[in-house]
Amino acid sequence: MDDTTLRLRSHKRVSESPVQANLRRSDDRPYVIAQLGQSLDGRIATTSGDSKYINGPHALDHLHALRASVDAVVVGVGTVCADDPLLTVRRIAGVSPARVVIDPSGRVDPKARCFAEDGIRRLVLRRMAAGAPLPTGVEVVPMADPSAFEPSSILEALKQRGLSRILVEGGPTTLSAFLEAGLVDELHVFVSPVILGAGRIGLSRKACDTLAQALRPKAQVHVFADGDVLFRCDLKDSVREEGSRDQPLPPEVRNPDEHPLQPRALRAAG
Ligand SMILES: NC(=O)c1ccc[n+]([C@@H]2O[C@H](COP(=O)([O-])OP(=O)(O)OC[C@H]3O[C@@H](n4cnc5c(N)ncnc54)[C@H](OP(=O)(O)O)[C@@H]3O)[C@@H](O)[C@H]2O)c1
Repeated sequence: MDDTTLRLRSHKRVSESPVQANLRRSDDRPYVIAQLGQSLDGRIATTSGDSKYINGPHALDHLHALRASVDAVVVGVGTVCADDPLLTVRRIAGVSPARVVIDPSGRVDPKARCFAEDGIRRLVLRRMAAGAPLPTGVEVVPMADPSAFEPSSILEALKQRGLSRILVEGGPTTLSAFLEAGLVDELHVFVSPVILGAGRIGLSRKACDTLAQALRPKAQVHVFADGDVLFRCDLKDSVREEGSRDQPLPPEVRNPDEHPLQPRALRAAG
């Protein structure tokens, strides 16, 4: 097999896209988990930006378990401006990860709650000299050239600072950029039985012409007592051959009484 082809399960050869190449390089970069909570109609917030809370308490417990399983939680500045999240582990026993805000133009409010001093590392990725001074102890990571905010460069900057398990917690702009770049290893999507009718879509990527080109990750499905459904998708295994719609991967449905995530188990899995 040469470098530009990838042998898939059907023994067909297809060109390897940059997305597939990035997925194959996951040993060299931080392990990336992405999470999203959305409505039945795929919205992550109302048209006014209200997103607290689309999902129920089980989804919040799961989110906190995910936080406890990583070295750093990453959000875009849009999420900090809209939600002012704490980004700590509070709902379960566990250690809070470092908090990272991607803020190219320095528009984040220095009084944002995620910058509160609590002994946990706080980092802000910015263009050189952008924005107001940040509270003492917040590490400013200056990103130099125009391509510095590509997800691969962001991961490299985090790796250089000792952060090797990352949770991309949103919002849609940040998460979609990582997905499109092929830099998400695991995607956790909570779907709640609520219909918003309009509002932000959570996940987007380059349009595909045919369903055969769609990402079809292997998924574990977990149904919670409050009606929320978790799709835990393994994107490392999402490269599917043409015609794969005829042989869908059966989702693994777990017992609703058994929580699928134990922080330690997750850590070991990565
Ligand atoms: N339901 C959920 O799970 C969930 C989770 C999180 C957020 N949300 C909702 O999402 C909405 C916010 O959405 P959003 O898309 O604005 O949020 P976002 O992804 O948190 O922030 C986007 C901004 O972050 C910066 N950024 C992030 N990644 C970048 C990259 N790779 N390159 C360059 N800049 C990058 C850019 O800032 P500049 O524009 O300043 O360059 C960009 O406009 C809010 O309504 C929030 O409530 C929902």
